[in-house]
Amino acid sequence: MSPSLSTVLLVALLSQLFVLPALTSSKGDDTPDSKKYKFLYFASIMGGSHYVALARSGRALVQQGHRVVSLVGSSNSNRSWQRDADVFSFVVFNSTYTKQNRTDVMDNISKVIVKGHHNHFFGPFLNSANLTGKLNFMDMWLQECDDLLGDSTAMERLRKEKFDMLVVDDMIPCGPLLAQTLDIPFVHSSVFFVIPSKHGHWTGLPTYPSYIPERNMGLTNKMTFLQRVQNVLVHYLYGLIHFRTRMGICNFDGYDQLKVKYNIKPEISTLESYKQALLYFLHGSFALEFARPMQPNTILILHHPGVNGNQTLEEDVAQFLDTAPSGVVMFSMGSFVTMMEREQAQMFADAFAMLPHRVLWQSGADLSGLRLGNNTLVAKWLPMTQVMEHPNVRLYVSQGGALTLNEALWAGLPIVGLPLAEDQMDNLVRVEAKGVGLKVDIASMTPRTLSQTIGRVMTEPKYRENARRISEIMRDLETSASPVDTMARWILHVTLFGGDHLRPAVQDLNFVQRNLLDVYLFLAVVLALVTWINVTVSSFCLRCMCCKGRNKNHLKKE
Ligand SMILES: *[C@@H]1O[C@H](CO)[C@@H](O)[C@H](O)[C@H]1NC(C)=O
Ligand SMILES: *[C@@H]1O[C@H](CO)[C@@H](O)[C@H](O)[C@H]1NC(C)=O
Ligand SMILES: *[C@@H]1O[C@H](CO)[C@@H](O)[C@H](O)[C@H]1NC(C)=O
Ligand SMILES: *[C@@H]1O[C@H](CO)[C@@H](O)[C@H](O)[C@H]1NC(C)=O
Ligand SMILES: *[C@@H]1O[C@H](CO)[C@@H](O)[C@H](O)[C@H]1NC(C)=O
Ligand SMILES: *[C@@H]1O[C@H](CO)[C@@H](O)[C@H](O)[C@H]1NC(C)=O
Ligand SMILES: *[C@@H]1O[C@H](CO)[C@@H](O)[C@H](O)[C@H]1NC(C)=O
Repeated sequence: MSPSLSTVLLVALLSQLFVLPALTSSKGDDTPDSKKYKFLYFASIMGGSHYVALARSGRALVQQGHRVVSLVGSSNSNRSWQRDADVFSFVVFNSTYTKQNRTDVMDNISKVIVKGHHNHFFGPFLNSANLTGKLNFMDMWLQECDDLLGDSTAMERLRKEKFDMLVVDDMIPCGPLLAQTLDIPFVHSSVFFVIPSKHGHWTGLPTYPSYIPERNMGLTNKMTFLQRVQNVLVHYLYGLIHFRTRMGICNFDGYDQLKVKYNIKPEISTLESYKQALLYFLHGSFALEFARPMQPNTILILHHPGVNGNQTLEEDVAQFLDTAPSGVVMFSMGSFVTMMEREQAQMFADAFAMLPHRVLWQSGADLSGLRLGNNTLVAKWLPMTQVMEHPNVRLYVSQGGALTLNEALWAGLPIVGLPLAEDQMDNLVRVEAKGVGLKVDIASMTPRTLSQTIGRVMTEPKYRENARRISEIMRDLETSASPVDTMARWILHVTLFGGDHLRPAVQDLNFVQRNLLDVYLFLAVVLALVTWINVTVSSFCLRCMCCKGRNKNHLKKE
């Protein structure tokens, strides 16, 4: 009797403590957090990891009872977004591009990028000819922006929804235009860590070229005198480029013309429109990144594997991993590399065949007909998190894309990186600086150099030890909240209160004011004036004294 009585008492006590307060607090409908909002999500034009990273936070919002509509183009393959059909509603706009057109463009880009001519500072400028015409995905985004704004049916549907907020990937310059058309606020999300010149300009992040390296320079936070000279020059060059264009290769002019064509606040340029984002999500962790100042309107999110769904390994893959006592190398070039020329793919296959370890190769590209080593298994798709956390997997070989790179480090894996484009070079510079891996130049590598580098990182214990330490720091830096919940919470915060209180005033300053050039010029003029007056007065006095002296002498003589 007494146990059951104590149980009853305990239950009563617990319900007093937890259940009742919970019930009463969820009753009041007038509390701000009980109101339900409507969000428009737009990342489909980018696809790949950009879409996945954003969609996760949308799921978190739906779980809290809010409504999320995802905007996709008719050129997006259904497969990429229909896995979210259980939680999102969709609006599809008519695109000039067919699904096949988009696949062709992406295949062609991946064929060019995978050659490795774009992974240094001058790459995008020198090799921009490689990506013109039908290969130019920037043109595709611009055309699809035009298609979207011109699709009266889709736009009408979006207007009718009366969204509270647009959540958009920052690579899509159409985002701010869409927000202005629908007259709603927006937040930006990037799958990259801070790109000093770009995000510095768009979000007001401070950038000190003395210790913050510009992108694609191969520099770390510790620079020699000559490296600092380089970094300062590039910093100001980028600063000037950003007045008109984005990264020098994506021109905002086309979007400015769309603003005029559709009469979307044409008086505010696309570049200025970017600065109207209420909030900026950036991706990364200071476990890997060099320390730098942030601002209240920038939120660092690490999309770590804890947020992935419950996926299971295929039977053959599980067996391949379980029975590999000397360890497995995981190789993947990410979702954007959909195409690789046979010759190049064979080079990878030959490098892997030389290794004494097993290699698990994930590739969306068609690899049939390659001569593979008997230690290599190819898979079209893999549950990456599950593979990375398998105890026999010892190394991750990849292009260094931010999302999977951080997942690998979370799992404590050392890295061998083959940077192709975008932020990948920067990520891998950090990997080397922190001693968790090595990078290889894909343009000049041979099967032997690649397999030697893999062998070195696989066998030298320091890489594994450093990777484990990075993993521990990364996990410890994460607060208890899951990243998608953090993202959802911040999106709700600016939906409720706006973003003025988070916005640094530096965003309203121009290049001259921001760099205090006017103040330095003014001070230099004052200094010059004071010096001039000093010199003039003292030389006048001197002359007077001399004169007097001469006069005195004159008088004395007389
Ligand atoms: C893809 O989605 C579009 C728009 O919802 C639909 O019209 C089309 O039938 C779908 N295609 C497939 C193959 O499911
Ligand atoms: C799309 O593909 C069709 C058929 O191959 C082609 O005629 C058309 O020019 C392509 N459109 C674009 C924008 O590339
Ligand atoms: C682009 O892709 C199309 C279709 O796959 C192909 O016919 C064309 O040769 C490619 N162009 C280049 C430059 O690779
Ligand atoms: C891209 O440009 C570089 C340098 O201009 C050239 O060496 C390379 O062959 C080009 N690649 C393709 C796929 O056209
Ligand atoms: C969009 O495409 C669909 C099917 O291809 C067509 O029925 C519809 O009229 C198009 N809408 C507009 C506004 O062009
Ligand atoms: C994951 O999936 C497996 C099989 O599908 C199931 O047994 C397990 O309970 C799931 N775990 C979680 C945490 O949902
Ligand atoms: C795999 O290939 C290597 C040489 O390429 C050979 O020495 C080894 O015996 C092969 N293993 C099996 C199980 O066939």
